[in-house]
Amino acid sequence: MARIIAIANQKGGVGKTTTSVNLAACLAAADKKTLVLDLDPQGNASVALGLEKEAFTNANIYHAMIGGENIENCIYKTELSYLDICPSDNNLIGAEVELMQAFARESKLKAALEPIMKVYDYIIIDCPPSLSLLTVNGLNAAHSYIVPMQTEYFAMEGLAQLINTVKLIKQNLNPIIELEGILLTMYDGRNNLAKLVANEIRTHFPQDTFKTIIPRNVKLSECPSHGKPIIIYDITSKGAEAYLNVAKEIILKEKDRVVEDENQLSLVDKIINKNEETFEIPSFDEYQLQ
Ligand SMILES: Nc1ncnc2c1ncn2[C@@H]1O[C@H](COP(=O)(O)OP(=O)(O)OP(=O)(O)O)[C@@H](O)[C@H]1O
Ligand SMILES: [Mg+2]
Repeated sequence: MARIIAIANQKGGVGKTTTSVNLAACLAAADKKTLVLDLDPQGNASVALGLEKEAFTNANIYHAMIGGENIENCIYKTELSYLDICPSDNNLIGAEVELMQAFARESKLKAALEPIMKVYDYIIIDCPPSLSLLTVNGLNAAHSYIVPMQTEYFAMEGLAQLINTVKLIKQNLNPIIELEGILLTMYDGRNNLAKLVANEIRTHFPQDTFKTIIPRNVKLSECPSHGKPIIIYDITSKGAEAYLNVAKEIILKEKDRVVEDENQLSLVDKIINKNEETFEIPSFDEYQLQ
């Protein structure tokens, strides 16, 4: 079953798309079958993975969410064999208005993803920079969400609003959603303010901040214009190293989660076994002794 992770922050330009594309590529490099789902009408993730805009105007996420098209017909291959992309384009802007009248409008994406849940290990959703109905659809479909935060002044502005939106979604639509982590992005270690902001965020969210920090790295800003994720564009760069580490953190966390589930199962087994023992019919002698 796919684990769906939404990359969300209503602040613009904080590294959502860079994180979606490069984290997904690193998961794919670890042999995890991964889909990038571009939910932003800007379509940046689609272009960053080398798709020509004209190639997908008739079959993209808009058609799967609104037009009743099977999502499998809206998915395209990338240079990495384990990485696919479901693109968006600017007709998704109209989707906001069209969705307003729709039945179960917050669950359109969740429903569209149903046929591919067993195809992928991870589905990474690149959300637009707003708390619009599109982002609500992304968060409603997701198991968890990552908040990329730029280490600059005002970084935490809007975070309370995002967390509050997720709280409402959790209460009313998607009880299982959890915070995968806050990811510090575009970090410049020479900048004292960046250090202060990073420390402040870590102090507020000690358990929920990724250990890995994404450095400001020129290769990361170059690779979208070449239509390549960083691990293909320059595997030796600091940016590639950082996103590989984020992928590792996510995979390890998932392993812990599976072990936890198995432990719970074995606990259930133990209880069942114990009950079996309890219900063993005692021999006559034992019965007498009791
Ligand atoms: N770690 C980094 N180092 C250098 N440049 C970066 C880094 N991360 C992102 N950038 C650049 O910063 C800009 C904004 O990043 P990105 O597009 O990922 O943000 P976004 O949150 O998706 O933006 P939007 O809100 O518009 O969707 C881009 O030009 C990107 O190439
Ligand atoms: Mg973006």
